[in-house]
Amino acid sequence: MLKETPDRVSFFMGEKEMNGSLHLFDKIIEKAEARIEAAPSYDALALETAGDPAGPGHTAFYLGRNIPLLKRLAAAIEAGERDPIRFVYIDPPFFSENDYDAVVTAGDQKLKFTAYTDRWSDGLEDYLVKAACVLVLIRRVLAADGLVCVHLDWHVSHYVRALMDEVFGADRFVNDIVWTYKSGGSTTKRFSRKHDDLLLYSKSKEYRFNPQKEKSYNRGGKPYRFDGVDEFEDENGWYTLVNMKDVWDIDMVGRTSGERTGYATQKPLKLMRRLIVSCSDEGDTVADFFAGSGAFPLAAAELGRNVIACDVSPLSADTTMRRLEKAGAFVDLYADNAAEDTAQDAFDAEVSAVREKGTVTVTVDAIAEPGLADRLDGKSLAAAEELLAHAPERLIKSVSAGSAGPDGVFYKVKEAADACSVSFDASEIEGPVVVKVTDVFGNFTYKSVS
Ligand SMILES: C[S@@+](CC[C@H](N)C(=O)[O-])C[C@H]1O[C@@H](n2cnc3c(N)ncnc32)[C@H](O)[C@@H]1O
Repeated sequence: MLKETPDRVSFFMGEKEMNGSLHLFDKIIEKAEARIEAAPSYDALALETAGDPAGPGHTAFYLGRNIPLLKRLAAAIEAGERDPIRFVYIDPPFFSENDYDAVVTAGDQKLKFTAYTDRWSDGLEDYLVKAACVLVLIRRVLAADGLVCVHLDWHVSHYVRALMDEVFGADRFVNDIVWTYKSGGSTTKRFSRKHDDLLLYSKSKEYRFNPQKEKSYNRGGKPYRFDGVDEFEDENGWYTLVNMKDVWDIDMVGRTSGERTGYATQKPLKLMRRLIVSCSDEGDTVADFFAGSGAFPLAAAELGRNVIACDVSPLSADTTMRRLEKAGAFVDLYADNAAEDTAQDAFDAEVSAVREKGTVTVTVDAIAEPGLADRLDGKSLAAAEELLAHAPERLIKSVSAGSAGPDGVFYKVKEAADACSVSFDASEIEGPVVVKVTDVFGNFTYKSVS
């Protein structure tokens, strides 16, 4: 007998548990359910739209914490107000007890600051309760034929896999994909740890999966000439195409890679594309609730998927939006009206604007960065404070201008700002012009000009 609640599944055969479910995580899941119940629901405030509406895919980026967003999406999907999600990929903090930096450019300075922390003062239990909240909610937003992939490494992939067995059912396990790479440090104390675990689970037995092929080189690099077997040749010799295996050797985003954004733990587009084409089809909705540098949303939008992306970091929102816009995709940005801390609290700019004969001149008279000391330290903090005092324009990344519509502001013009005064041709903007000033850390502030 399958005992299924809206939130989790477990399997019984008479009195005996099937699939080895030992209820190891009952306490964790109970705490997660209470935390979900108590969590606020994301109150989406449309901030802006950008990019080309005719571009491939459509991304909705939700700036804020993912549990309130997932809670909101689950309620809407269960009420039939929106379609469930075909594929969810998440790359959460790994329980590494480290801080992760992003490197941003301010004038000729490189500033290193904490993009996100992966420290857990309340320990593993706290981490697992949060993971359980996210997993229980992902199960609720997934389509019946959908798949979820959780990206982790040796720190906690063993616990999370067991937790997923309980949330999704052990027989919903599809793969533990090993992503192996060369980069990173090495040691003589043990074998070098050079792989991540990508745990793939389905919502039901009827999931849809697009098998992929990979090259399998013939021994000796020579053709076998078996009847009915197609063989091909490249610079490494003769090969056949076989069903793809679960060990993937894909380079990390290297220091010199054109993909590199400076956002810590950025994942390669090749890895994202492989997951997306295997687990979804063009036109499907896919989601990433820990978007970081925006690798998954970018790959998915380019492959014609509609994307739900979420991250609590304003730098993630800014980096993702810029990557998507550059790719000609269409993207909406939302903030959580119900959240207490917002990206707009971290940055303040005194902006004045003059509109004359179709030209808008925006002048940033002063900027304040109240949270600077929390995000930067050492040399980077000293350099940023120096810039703030003597060349504040270097801390401004862009000034944009657009017109307000029902879905937020549509930005027609975005200029890199290397001066405190920027002029735009705003002759095409009807009604008030809304100006957005973004700092190099991704924080932003809006001003309206009649
Ligand atoms: C490992 S990084 C993701 C990297 C991403 N896959 C990429 O390719 O760039 C984890 C991200 O999770 C975000 N994050 C951590 N806790 C979060 C939460 N509760 N809600 C939303 N985002 C969160 C962090 O800001 C960080 O950007």
